[in-house]
Amino acid sequence: MGYQSICLIFIFIKCYASANENYCYSDNIKCDKKINRYLFYDVNPPEGFNLRLDVYMRFAILSNKMMKSSDPTLNGFKLVLPPWSNLIHWQYSDTPDHIPWGHYFDLDSLKRFAPVIEMYQFFNEHPKTYSRVTIDEVYTLQHFEDMFETGNFEDRMQIDKCRKKQNISFFFYNNITANNYHCLSYHGPVTKLVQLFLNTTASSILINHGEVSLHEYFGNKVYWQARRSLRYSKELVDIAADFRREHLDSTDEKDKTLLPKNWEDEKPNRKPRGGPYVAIHLRRRDFLRSRSKEIPSLENVAEQVSKTLQRLKLQTVFVATDGSAKEFEHLSSLLSRYKVKRYTASEAFRSKYKDGGVAIVDQIICSHARYFIGTHESTFTFRIEERREILGFDEDTTFNVFCSDDRNCPKSSVWKIVY
Ligand SMILES: *[C@@H]1O[C@H](CO)[C@@H](O)[C@H](O)[C@H]1NC(C)=O
Ligand SMILES: *[C@@H]1O[C@H](CO)[C@@H](O)[C@H](O)[C@H]1NC(C)=O
Ligand SMILES: *[C@@H]1O[C@H](CO)[C@@H](O)[C@H](O)[C@H]1NC(C)=O
Repeated sequence: MGYQSICLIFIFIKCYASANENYCYSDNIKCDKKINRYLFYDVNPPEGFNLRLDVYMRFAILSNKMMKSSDPTLNGFKLVLPPWSNLIHWQYSDTPDHIPWGHYFDLDSLKRFAPVIEMYQFFNEHPKTYSRVTIDEVYTLQHFEDMFETGNFEDRMQIDKCRKKQNISFFFYNNITANNYHCLSYHGPVTKLVQLFLNTTASSILINHGEVSLHEYFGNKVYWQARRSLRYSKELVDIAADFRREHLDSTDEKDKTLLPKNWEDEKPNRKPRGGPYVAIHLRRRDFLRSRSKEIPSLENVAEQVSKTLQRLKLQTVFVATDGSAKEFEHLSSLLSRYKVKRYTASEAFRSKYKDGGVAIVDQIICSHARYFIGTHESTFTFRIEERREILGFDEDTTFNVFCSDDRNCPKSSVWKIVY
């Protein structure tokens, strides 16, 4: 038999295998039967885009681990991505949006790390004969009531009475319902949920308040794989690239910020120079109220920025902020000796991508700057710092946050990338 016909047979077996849902093959994983199961998760409604991404990483790491398991009740789980709807910080309309993840992220890239599917794909995979979808089991995570009183911080979980009145939105779909509801007091890493999944035959499970579960290891290799797989969608990357080229004289070639096509091929590298601008992230709005002492005045910001521009011999500052147009104008006038840039989205862009799209374009532009200054303890700033780590910037150009008006200069926590 010639080489070609052996290949053909091999392709046939592979096709047969992938057409058969219950068949599973792999070089190093032993499994006969893969059981199709769906894992849904949701996050506390007031939480914003950037914390939601962190919760995604926790569940992606859990799914990655289960995918590699030899246990057929675990390795068939698909993680259903919760559509983006009614986010509290977004200027949304009254109708839920159900924006799929593919608007913001490169789904192929995500899938190289974890077996994720979009909600609409889940609907497609589900028999069309039913007008409603029923999730078998819902677990709402809650903290142990006694944790702080007794100081018991051991990992544990237990089905408990619900501490708060349950109001589960099912991602704002009116055609999703559930059979069984439980509250689960929980303390520990997200991967502890495996014990729960082994203990039930439910084929669809929703974990509500997923943010209660913790990262298994923060900042280890797997954490960074999850983060690296979370690449932004090509369209948003292109929009940011156009802005960088037109307004900031910045391209990947000139800045030395080219990455391989697949995140798996990325290697440790510390050579980027970045575009010839300083980028700042200024968190205003609710931080002005909740952290008024830590948030610097615009005069103070202008002073810190102009010192940095002088030191680096640069002329341009890019500003990412949720502050008002008036605040931006005020800051621009304080920095009138320099070029002060901000990304403003078109109406068409806003209606398609909402504030999440603007946030991502801002984050991309900030992550390519020669020097970055962020806001202390802001998840928006964290996401930029992570991306700069992936691009390979020197630590001291990345982990900087603004000093407050009383000259208190907090240190940004440094989470260096691990491969
Ligand atoms: C549920 O509603 C959504 C949005 O209206 C729709 O896309 C989906 O197909 C529906 N699913 C079923 C099973 O009817
Ligand atoms: C339950 O949640 C829905 C959707 O978030 C909201 O419109 C409704 O007001 C909530 N009801 C209660 C009793 O909290
Ligand atoms: C496992 O299942 C048993 C029997 O249904 C139940 O009593 C127990 O609480 C479950 N354990 C967990 C961690 O869910």
